[in-house]
Amino acid sequence: MFLRLLATLLGAAGAYALYWILGALYYEFTSPWRYLRGPPSTHWFFGNLKEFIDDEDDGLEESWRQQYGRTFKFYRFFGTTALHTTDPKAIHHFLSNTHIYQKSEASRFSLGQIVGPGILVVEGDVHKQQRKIMNPAFGAPQVRNLTEIFVDKSIQLRDIWAAQVAKSNDGVARVEALSWLSKATLDIIGLAGFNYKIDALGAEEGAAPNELAEAFEAIFAAETGSGFSFARFLQLRFPILRNIPLKRNKTVVEAQATMMRIGRGLLADSKREIAENGFETNTGTASGRARDLLTLLVRANTSKDLPASQRLSDEDVIAREGANVPRGWSWCVLPSFVRVSSKAPSIYSSWSAETTSTAVTWTLFALTQNTTAQTRLREELLGVSTDRPSMDELNALPYLDSVVRETLRLYAPVPGTSRIALRDDVVPLSTPVTDTNGTVHESLRIRKGEPIIIPIIAMNCDGEIWGPDAMKFIPERWDAPPPGASAIPGVWGHMLTFIGGPRSCIGFRFSLVEMKALIFTLVRSFEFELAVPIGEMGKKGTAIVQRPIVVTDRAAGNQLPLFVRPVVRELA
Ligand code: HEM
Ligand SMILES: *[C@@H]1O[C@H](CO)[C@@H](O)[C@H](O)[C@H]1NC(C)=O
Ligand SMILES: *[C@@H]1O[C@H](CO)[C@@H](O)[C@H](O)[C@H]1NC(C)=O
Ligand SMILES: *[C@@H]1O[C@H](CO)[C@@H](O)[C@H](O)[C@H]1NC(C)=O
Ligand SMILES: *[C@@H]1O[C@H](CO)[C@@H](O)[C@H](O)[C@H]1NC(C)=O
Ligand SMILES: *[C@@H]1O[C@H](CO)[C@@H](O)[C@H](O)[C@H]1NC(C)=O
Repeated sequence: MFLRLLATLLGAAGAYALYWILGALYYEFTSPWRYLRGPPSTHWFFGNLKEFIDDEDDGLEESWRQQYGRTFKFYRFFGTTALHTTDPKAIHHFLSNTHIYQKSEASRFSLGQIVGPGILVVEGDVHKQQRKIMNPAFGAPQVRNLTEIFVDKSIQLRDIWAAQVAKSNDGVARVEALSWLSKATLDIIGLAGFNYKIDALGAEEGAAPNELAEAFEAIFAAETGSGFSFARFLQLRFPILRNIPLKRNKTVVEAQATMMRIGRGLLADSKREIAENGFETNTGTASGRARDLLTLLVRANTSKDLPASQRLSDEDVIAREGANVPRGWSWCVLPSFVRVSSKAPSIYSSWSAETTSTAVTWTLFALTQNTTAQTRLREELLGVSTDRPSMDELNALPYLDSVVRETLRLYAPVPGTSRIALRDDVVPLSTPVTDTNGTVHESLRIRKGEPIIIPIIAMNCDGEIWGPDAMKFIPERWDAPPPGASAIPGVWGHMLTFIGGPRSCIGFRFSLVEMKALIFTLVRSFEFELAVPIGEMGKKGTAIVQRPIVVTDRAAGNQLPLFVRPVVRELA
């Protein structure tokens, strides 16, 4: 009886797999871009994916572009292909038509597992509604009021490094910049996001682990404990299997309850604050309450202009029972802590913290590779008379601005994203493509279900726009950006780093000022030098971002070891 059941189940699974493979092959055979040019497949199963993933210096896409033009196809699993284009008109089309091009179901599922089913993963009207309520909290006036938090945390980190230098005999400390920056950005999003002290920077001094951080650790350990999970892979491919609960244990269930309790408490605090004191009368209090994003969101939700049907429920913001992680706008706030390195289990991150710490890490890396640029930046920063600049003072520093732009262009923390076409479509092109038959196409046919790559770094480094030194770190290029760059359909700075259109990064202003505060404080105080030979440095992606590694110590995970020396300042 049992065996017969098993055989039936296996048979059904086999038939389903065969159906899936035949479907994929048929789909491929009838693809409208069958005749597009592109690199030949290098593996019967992985297509070109292996080169793609192993490409540590990001030169592969640019070399493909040089060979096959701006729009080409490449091979993915099992002979299926994907379109790759850095054509600005096509990218603009993908990013602005969000009713046609959405995150694929699989990527939403896996992002949702990491960051919770919040704004990053919802689509359509639900997204529009959440975004409308959230937008005001991320405006320039709000970010201006958060700058103090960015600066405070930057100074705390500066003092920790200075103490390490003081302990050394030779006036030099070796620091692992990435993990420290992760802690700083995590503390920042805790305070700026929901007025919660995570205190990852302070925890180093032997303090009891933070309750929230501990809860995240338990959940994350259980989620990722065994590394690659075949069960999870199957769930990704076959949605039908997602209803089968994977093993959960008591620790995890308790940790989830802790997270929800803290989240509810924070939401209740925000509501009480607004109910008792109103919003306006209470800004800028000593506690920092009423500047944080959560309070701004609760206030926006109480606005009289907002129809009842568009209000966010508490569940949208905090969590649903049984969900893996808190939901709602949890992507950046109550959220999504991802363990950064297996050797450093106390480091957590969220979308906001992980992307921004990655960006600042790459900035320091780039500055170690060009001491002229590092010195020039420091001279500009030392010209400022205060250690505690405002947002406007930070934004008035032109070379700091160019350095931030150049890092975000060349080392975009999120190197690429993807979409899927919900219906057949015709995509306009700025550069026509010539197929293998020699036929010239002015536009491109896209078929329902087709996967689309939004190649962020490849667009930011397209030699056709940026010239032959596109892959080099040259802050001075921003004195006179190439005219072609204005065609790049990004929400900020002639680049795709924060993508563009209705789904662009809502937090880009927040992130830019946060980066500037950290770089300002650290580069004013220290000289930076890479602590390993440059030949040992590489890049490796985590679930979300692309970060540095030391290739001779891959097991340590992502890291950036630096020597820091205090800057000797002449007293005025
Ligand atoms: C250098 C830092 C950052 C980079 C490079 C970055 C990049 C991005 C990118 C590429 C997306 C689009 C993802 C996709 O659609 O596939 C995105 C979305 C988003 N980002 Fe950021 N981000 C950064 C910092 C932040 C910060 C600091 C916050 C919050 C405080 C934030 C909040 C969000 C949110 C909420 C979305 C989803 C927006 C939507 O779907 O409507 N990001 N970000
Ligand atoms: C439950 O999860 C915790 C945290 O990941 C882990 O330490 C523990 O070993 C797990 N227990 C069981 C019985 O799987
Ligand atoms: C910023 O803070 C100031 C006082 O600290 C307050 O008057 C102002 O309303 C705040 N602005 C926003 C947009 O929250
Ligand atoms: C939004 O407003 C509704 C109606 O007043 C309320 O029930 C809900 O709890 C509020 N949600 C949040 C997140 O404040
Ligand atoms: C270093 O930076 C300076 C200023 O940005 C630039 O002129 C120079 O070409 C750079 N050198 C290298 C080796 O990249
Ligand atoms: C390209 O050429 C092949 C055979 O040479 C032909 O069957 C096909 O229809 C052509 N495709 C296009 C898009 O012109």
